[in-house]
Amino acid sequence: MFEKMLLGDRLPLSTFVAVFLLILLMIYFKTWLRCSWLVLKLKGPTALPIVGNALIIADSARMEYLANVCHTLFGRIFRIWVSVIPAVMVLEPKDVQTIIGSSKHNDKNFLYALMHNFIGEGLISNNGDKWKIHRKLIQPHFHINILELYVNSFCKSSSRQVRKLKNVKDINVNTYVNDCVLDILHETILGIPLEDAETKEKSPFRKGAITLPIRIQKPWYLFDYLYKFTTIAQDELSQKTKLHDYTRKMIELNKSIKNDSNHSLLRIFLDISENNPQFTEDDVVNEICTFMLAGQDSVAAAVAFSLHCLAYNQEAQAKVCQELDEIFNGSDRCADASDLRKMRYLEQCIKETLRLYPSVPIIARKLSEDVTIDKYTLPEGCNVFICPYATHRLAHIYENPKKFDPDRFSPENLEKLHPYAFIPFSAGPRNCIGYKFAYLEMKVILSSILRSYKIFPSHTKFSILYRITLRAKGGIWVRFEPREAIKNNNNN
Ligand code: HEM
Repeated sequence: MFEKMLLGDRLPLSTFVAVFLLILLMIYFKTWLRCSWLVLKLKGPTALPIVGNALIIADSARMEYLANVCHTLFGRIFRIWVSVIPAVMVLEPKDVQTIIGSSKHNDKNFLYALMHNFIGEGLISNNGDKWKIHRKLIQPHFHINILELYVNSFCKSSSRQVRKLKNVKDINVNTYVNDCVLDILHETILGIPLEDAETKEKSPFRKGAITLPIRIQKPWYLFDYLYKFTTIAQDELSQKTKLHDYTRKMIELNKSIKNDSNHSLLRIFLDISENNPQFTEDDVVNEICTFMLAGQDSVAAAVAFSLHCLAYNQEAQAKVCQELDEIFNGSDRCADASDLRKMRYLEQCIKETLRLYPSVPIIARKLSEDVTIDKYTLPEGCNVFICPYATHRLAHIYENPKKFDPDRFSPENLEKLHPYAFIPFSAGPRNCIGYKFAYLEMKVILSSILRSYKIFPSHTKFSILYRITLRAKGGIWVRFEPREAIKNNNNN
């Protein structure tokens, strides 16, 4: 009877095969179909054919729109299309907590796989057991007591850089800060200082083309089998080879120089590798490249934006300088860990800068099970985007959100803030492992500059740009006046 129904006149074999294939296809694309079904019910910014909303990350006006208007127009959860890939965006702290606060949704989504060539297969982009094992092995080495051993290296590099400011007036601080951060990372992560301009030029970590924004805007580049034939893919691979070769050279150098005071991350990772078969020497190479890249643009952007904010907010700058004068009492000695703990107002200024200009403006996850937010069920496998840049500008959380106001982060005000309302370092189990390192480093660089110079806004304005990290298109220009000269002028 059943056979007759299938093969009889009314349902020929070809129809049966077609239905069968369709069912297989639906099973294969089940996640995509469930996510699309959800996304079609949600409101969101106008999506263009083919690219969808991908231009959000390429165009600062669209990013501003996302930050300032989407929550008001579309509510606490809305849809975006990354080409043909459906995704949802959540901005409210309690919803952000539901996603990144839970260890169930630790997996990164397709975007991070697109960065493998650039950032290597380390903590940032790995998932599952590999991520869990590596994070557990590395985490204890990011304890504050261990990190404070790096403060001296931070100071030496920062002082070298500050000396270069002599006789300069208006500069694009991005270049200056990038050099300083690269110097620091070479010494603290690779264990080999960048002694002169020549060695600095040779470091492959000072260059790096980020192709993710290009790949998202040209969706056909999302398919590896097409992308790998492009020149940008080949350049990216050759850059990756250079980073890996250079890191292997640094490994050999570290092994050949026996030095008990070498606390570099590379030395630590080699020790981990000697004692753990799950952390091979290839893993050391990948993790070192990840840390070198994760610690570079993020910190450099935060320092450069902090200088911008302090140049435009003279009152806050004066309070920072007063705090520094109280700590150092006119001495030009290097800062130590206890000095850094006293830089409380400077830390508030850094936090306020990271609120306005979070170095990593977008974070993404793939759900590992269904999640309910508002009246919607977000299906397992759904891509969820969190946008610190937009969450940090929600007017019902931060009154007058565009205003630079470091008092938002005073101890009393901080207590009232939802723990997921300020997320420049992400939050939850997959937060930034390097955040304490970053605060120490940023405090050292900024205090070194502000102990010697007063800074003022310079001629240019910038617009923001997304290159995985936030950038200032046109650079951040600042004018420097030696503090002694200012004191002398005031006395005359
Ligand atoms: C102002 C400076 C920094 C900011 C704003 C920042 C921000 C972030 C954010 C938002 C994430 C989560 C990314 C995601 O989930 O997609 C992250 C992860 C990470 N960051 Fe940072 N970061 C900074 C500095 C650093 C430094 C200095 C290092 C290393 C020395 C570092 C190493 C890492 C690593 C390895 C991860 C991946 C952690 C994991 O998934 O287990 N970061 N960072």
